[in-house]
Amino acid sequence: MTTAWKFKPALPARRGDRLSGKVALVTGTGAGIGRGIALLFAQQGAHVVGCDIDAASAQATVDAARAQGDAIDSVHPLDLTQPAQVRRLVEHTVQRCGGLDVLVNAAAFGAFQWLEAMDYERDWRRTLTGEADIVFLACQAAWPHLKVRGGSVINFASANAHMALPLSPALAHCAGKGAVLAMSRQLAMEGAPHGIRVNSISPALVVTEATSRPLADIPGFEEQVLSKFMVKRLGQPQDIAWAALFLASDESSWVTASEVNIDAGATAW
Ligand SMILES: NC(=O)c1ccc[n+]([C@@H]2O[C@H](COP(=O)([O-])OP(=O)(O)OC[C@H]3O[C@@H](n4cnc5c(N)ncnc54)[C@H](O)[C@@H]3O)[C@@H](O)[C@H]2O)c1
Repeated sequence: MTTAWKFKPALPARRGDRLSGKVALVTGTGAGIGRGIALLFAQQGAHVVGCDIDAASAQATVDAARAQGDAIDSVHPLDLTQPAQVRRLVEHTVQRCGGLDVLVNAAAFGAFQWLEAMDYERDWRRTLTGEADIVFLACQAAWPHLKVRGGSVINFASANAHMALPLSPALAHCAGKGAVLAMSRQLAMEGAPHGIRVNSISPALVVTEATSRPLADIPGFEEQVLSKFMVKRLGQPQDIAWAALFLASDESSWVTASEVNIDAGATAW
């Protein structure tokens, strides 16, 4: 007997006012989860500023917002590993929108390589820069502005901060996301006196530009991933965007230093 009917698909984005009046800076809006969050936040009334190192894909998100009847700002190309560029992005957002309420650190770069094949600079250092430094730099630049009226920071850790997945050469990624998880708790403690909440979301495998290649190229990878899931379907950006919406809104005003596992149950056993 099949049980597939029980696994509902991701809820499509829909219009509402849950972020009405809020200014949200979302990084990595050129793809996957960042794009999904930017489009949902705009539909829910936020003034969204996006950014990405890839100008064409960031522009595609601006166009997708326009097609759904929303306007989002976007700064692209922009390299979030460059401190001066990050500071300019935050200043641009505050000047254009009159403040900052929400920072979503969705952008990341990770190199996947087995230990013995890992090049120190090209793979290991670049991943820690692209996963941990990228969060530090954006938080540091945004912090003085988030302090003005309180705010919400949403960081992305990963199920890989908790578990190793067979067939996935994720060593540097595990280190980077473990760092983000630990940083988020510390930042929550530092932000609390200023009304800044900091939480992290830890997804398991979500179908995005980043994951399409291993899903296509590694034999048995999708089956391996699904074998860990209680809900037997892969994640979609909307699965993550709905959780981000809760954390960005005042509905979560008593939630900080939390990790929200959006992982089909993968890390529970
Ligand atoms: N997709 C998953 O299965 C999964 C699972 C766990 C955690 N995550 C995390 O969720 C977040 C979003 O993941 P995704 O799958 O949508 O990623 P993705 O690779 O599809 O998109 C990331 C975006 O960030 C941009 N980016 C990368 N480096 C940048 C830089 N230096 N400056 C500016 N932009 C840059 C990329 O161009 C891309 O558009 C990431 O932090 C990722 O590690 C994803």
